[in-house]
Amino acid sequence: MKVYVRFKPTETPISHKLLHPSSSSTSSDSPPPLTQSLNLSLPTSSPTFTFPTGGILDGDTSQDMIYRQTTEHCAKLCTEGVASCVFAYGQTGSGKTYTVTGGSQYDERGLIPRAITDVFQHLSKKEGESKVYVSFIEVYQEACYDLLDQEKRLKKLEEWDKIQTKEDSNGELTLEGVRVYECDAEESALSLLFLGNMNRITSSTKMNLASSRSHAIFTISTTRTVGKKVETGKMHVVDLAGSERSGKTNDIVSEFKLKDHFVKNERRKSESVDINLSLHYLQRVIYSLQLSSPHIPYRNSLMTQILKSSLGGNSNTIFIGCLSLESENVQESLSTLNFLTRCGSVQVKYSRNISTKHTSSTLTEEIKSLNKKLKEKEDALNAVTKKMEKLKGVNRELKERVEAGPVTEKIPFPIISNQLVSYLRRSASTVARPESSRF
Ligand SMILES: Nc1ncnc2c1ncn2[C@@H]1O[C@H](COP(=O)(O)OP(=O)(O)OP(=O)(O)O)[C@@H](O)[C@H]1O
Ligand SMILES: [Mg+2]
Repeated sequence: MKVYVRFKPTETPISHKLLHPSSSSTSSDSPPPLTQSLNLSLPTSSPTFTFPTGGILDGDTSQDMIYRQTTEHCAKLCTEGVASCVFAYGQTGSGKTYTVTGGSQYDERGLIPRAITDVFQHLSKKEGESKVYVSFIEVYQEACYDLLDQEKRLKKLEEWDKIQTKEDSNGELTLEGVRVYECDAEESALSLLFLGNMNRITSSTKMNLASSRSHAIFTISTTRTVGKKVETGKMHVVDLAGSERSGKTNDIVSEFKLKDHFVKNERRKSESVDINLSLHYLQRVIYSLQLSSPHIPYRNSLMTQILKSSLGGNSNTIFIGCLSLESENVQESLSTLNFLTRCGSVQVKYSRNISTKHTSSTLTEEIKSLNKKLKEKEDALNAVTKKMEKLKGVNRELKERVEAGPVTEKIPFPIISNQLVSYLRRSASTVARPESSRF
């Protein structure tokens, strides 16, 4: 997996003293370095984390540069029949949603809107018939909801329709009834992104005024048909809910709102526990993949189950770890960097998904062959049924004979006739003998 670390710009000088991104210096004639190191100057230790060159994106890096460095390639691959997945990972308030969706200004638009633009642009230059589809879901407290449900904002949480999940024979999870919209232009895909973001569960916490309380998965799928060949590309962009330490993220409560404060705080606590638990399960999956364990615990959480093929399947997967360089966030920053280092050592493989188009003539041929097979099976079944009927008849006859009581010994006809013949023969010979020789 490719990994990147992005620093959120901070105003407090302390944070700049804590983390010093550094890259090894090289002379002009030596080849460029393959890796960059990040050294943290902490009061008790100074750990160093190593990333591939270009993997460390400091606070001055523009949204455009972040996109070009991390996700641009995934958007291109999406139009070439390859599946990709981009995860934004990090503690609450570290800039995941800002990275993925963007800020309020046009220049600040995030990875998803930029990827949408590129996907349409790439496809417009390619031959064949192309289609683009969009879906947007969120995983909240181990349940999956459709963010493109127009009614969602009008309903209470308890009334939302949960997306039903089903595991197929390959252990892949299918989501039943998720809205997948075909988009004929960039604008329609962008308006779906906007609708989904409006529908997403957020809360004001001490750490973030609009903290995401769910994991959101935005998916762009493409198909491109040239002749009989169909290329199917996919790209998930995952904005994870942020890890948080309890107490750090409690609600912001004004005094006149104290009435429902208790209820809200209880919900916040259970959300927090759930977010941390699902991130813990994500870490477990990455840990097992890193060790190439025979069993990867995808089933522990809904999010890892849904994204199974992005984590350990056929996918070009990247992680962007967001860091907030405040001194009070040292533990969270260390945890994010350790996680990214693990992700970086997981090997991923991906290939192009190309299939053959089912034209009406190929479908007719398939139906013919299936009908022939069906006829053969039916004939075999009929033969078995006939045999069974015959056996039933024999069985019935035997039953009747048993019910009729013990069978009285009857001398079968051929025996009688043989006896009769030998009797007659004997009689005849007796007649031929003289009277005295009788007995
Ligand atoms: N690189 C950045 N440049 C400018 N502002 C940023 C940057 N990163 C984050 N911010 C701002 O910081 C605040 C928190 O960011 P964001 O909501 O993206 O955090 P988050 O990681 O998604 O948190 P949570 O896990 O709670 O959802 C937002 O107001 C956002 O605009
Ligand atoms: Mg967020």
